[in-house]
Amino acid sequence: MKILITGSAGFIGFHLSNFLLKKNFEIIGIDTLNNYYDNKFKKQRLSILKKNKKFKFYKIDISNKKKIDNFFDNFKIDIIINLAAYAGVQYSLKNPDIYFKTNEVGFYNLLENGKRKKIKKIIFASSSSVAGTNDKKFFSEKDNTDTPISLYGATKKNNEILAHFYASNYQIQIIGLRFFTVYGPYGRPDLSIYKFAKSIEENSGIIINNYGQHFRDFTYIDDVVKCVFSLLELKKFNKVDHKVNKYFQIFNLGGGNKIKITKIVSLLEKYLNKKTKIKMGPLKKGDIIFSRSEVSKLKRNINFLPNTSVKIGLKYFVDWFKSRDIK
Ligand SMILES: NC(=O)c1ccc[n+]([C@@H]2O[C@H](COP(=O)([O-])OP(=O)(O)OC[C@H]3O[C@@H](n4cnc5c(N)ncnc54)[C@H](O)[C@@H]3O)[C@@H](O)[C@H]2O)c1
Repeated sequence: MKILITGSAGFIGFHLSNFLLKKNFEIIGIDTLNNYYDNKFKKQRLSILKKNKKFKFYKIDISNKKKIDNFFDNFKIDIIINLAAYAGVQYSLKNPDIYFKTNEVGFYNLLENGKRKKIKKIIFASSSSVAGTNDKKFFSEKDNTDTPISLYGATKKNNEILAHFYASNYQIQIIGLRFFTVYGPYGRPDLSIYKFAKSIEENSGIIINNYGQHFRDFTYIDDVVKCVFSLLELKKFNKVDHKVNKYFQIFNLGGGNKIKITKIVSLLEKYLNKKTKIKMGPLKKGDIIFSRSEVSKLKRNINFLPNTSVKIGLKYFVDWFKSRDIK
């Protein structure tokens, strides 16, 4: 079984590739190794993956149709997992062109090849950011997501719409995953947990946005990978969902917790054994105030839910953070 993982040098792509390689799958990774955040993190992840003979890597841009078509003409792929994207909320407000090109045109190129090569299954990364102005206590897959508040969220919402068309018309099983703030070892240096830890380490002080009133459903990477694997193996959706659409489903990928950002900072201080200066700041444009995943759909389909507490997950993160050799 040959699986294409786009964005394989990224945080989630790296962990997922690693997990699937251990399960003996053949993985072809694609990534541009772009410099949205320092790409030495990506090169390090890639060098770990390359130690496994079942991993092949190609530096290809998914938005380059000619190169992507050519890739699919040369390799017989069984499953596509699309994780390649520009993934920052703030950066999307200043750099809309690259988001549209990568997240939308890039994904379209993969869907077209899925159709052309009669690929049976595609999994792709959406995001909890599609929720936008949603003010429900728990984000359900059924909620209206017509009001994203960042360009990033809008590109992910458009991915879901496009995927629905390809799944329903060409009988490809397509699964969209709304990840909820994923964290863990080898994590992204542009995200808050890494940034906070670095500021604590350097004693440079932390600014917490929205005056500390931010809540997220932080989801530990190993749980995410386990869920993606179960969905990869899932032949048929649970009958409740199958009745609605047997080819296309969106899943929330979070544990259903509401964790205050200030709790993350105090746990990091505890594990790093250092206190830092904290300044409170206003809400940033494009940021949602809270996210919390409704989990019943995931549970009924794979009988598993992310369950690593932030107490444990952050400990694993800090263990890696302290021993990391790139900064
Ligand atoms: N980490 C999270 O908390 C989170 C939350 C919601 C959604 N997501 C989504 O999950 C996916 C993976 O996220 P991540 O945290 O691993 O991000 P990441 O930035 O670490 O990984 C994305 C990878 O895609 C690559 N890439 C970008 N443009 C490309 C292109 N045109 N062609 C090929 N490769 C390209 C990047 O170089 C990077 O290595 C993304 O689609 C992201 O939007 C992540």
